[in-house]
Amino acid sequence: MTFAKLTATAHYAPEQVVTNDDLSQIMETSDEWIASRTGIRQRHIVQDENTSDLAANVGQQLLAKASLAAEDLDFIIVATVSPDGNMPSTASLVQAKLGASKAFAFDLTAACSGFVYALSVADKLITSGAYRNGIVIGAEVLSKIVDWSDRSTSVLFGDGAGGVLLQAVSETPMILAESLKSDGNRGMSLTSNLTQPKSPFSKSDTTDDLFLKMDGRAIFDFAVRDVPKNILESLEKADLSPDDIDYLFLHQANSRILDKLARKIKTDRSKFLQNMQEYGNTSAASIPILLSEAVDADTIKLDGSQKLVLTGFGGGLTWGTLVVKI
Ligand code: ACO
Repeated sequence: MTFAKLTATAHYAPEQVVTNDDLSQIMETSDEWIASRTGIRQRHIVQDENTSDLAANVGQQLLAKASLAAEDLDFIIVATVSPDGNMPSTASLVQAKLGASKAFAFDLTAACSGFVYALSVADKLITSGAYRNGIVIGAEVLSKIVDWSDRSTSVLFGDGAGGVLLQAVSETPMILAESLKSDGNRGMSLTSNLTQPKSPFSKSDTTDDLFLKMDGRAIFDFAVRDVPKNILESLEKADLSPDDIDYLFLHQANSRILDKLARKIKTDRSKFLQNMQEYGNTSAASIPILLSEAVDADTIKLDGSQKLVLTGFGGGLTWGTLVVKI
């Protein structure tokens, strides 16, 4: 049996940086309020790029790093809640931009858990024996879905993309254990792009609600209650303890959430890598950007010697952990 190996990582963020002080020029907020509650200091915001542009940049880097031809790609998965549109999918646009003529392509929507869900799916596609080379990208232009008149959400999010190349070249599994979860009953605490029937034959009298809306307190409570249980359950499945893990890559929403999680799973806070201070919350892109930066810094070696926890949590509600050896 041949397993998937994570052979390359890449990330890309738009050039324009918007600091907390920049935001305080256009809305009633301050660096002190944002940084003390979230850890966020700045975010990257697109000028004229869309989600598929960010994702295609990452795809091109992945192919170049692995010296792989675009025609050798079997599949492209883009995890996003801010696609260019519903049709064509952002992954299809990426396929065209890369010239990956033999790849099938689709988007996966699981909000801030999107990358973790997509990596799990991609691993199964390769481990099934049906496909050899695939890329998984988390890409977001959240600046186009946040309500810029709502200071309680617009200061939190940013734009960016990160991704990985998976190849069928390993004799040992990449995913040691996983636990993916959803709870649609709590779904309305984080919403965007809610649309209603409006044909001449429909009877709906509610209007569309397109902007991102969040019950911040409810999401905070969800993250600090459900996520640690999920991490510990996944580690138990892998017969590992937190001490066996080299680093934890958690969705980059808020540094106070990471502080609480580190205490709850009794793990050194320094093992929780963090870059939300530079990017803000980039939803499905946050974990692959963090991973790619860690590979660039040689903190993560991709030589099969390190065990990591990858955990996403967010809209859906969705959450999930992969315990990986890469
Ligand atoms: N600048 C200044 N003041 C603000 C701002 C702002 N940008 N936004 C809100 N305020 C005000 C509020 O109006 C409120 O004022 P009031 O008391 O006079 O009514 C006050 O600040 C306190 O607001 P709270 O909402 O109570 O602030 P809280 O301490 O709960 O922090 C935050 C808010 C940062 C959003 C927090 O709830 C949080 O981090 N939640 C988790 C959110 C999250 O992680 N989401 C992402 C996960 S899912 C995903 O990634 C899509």
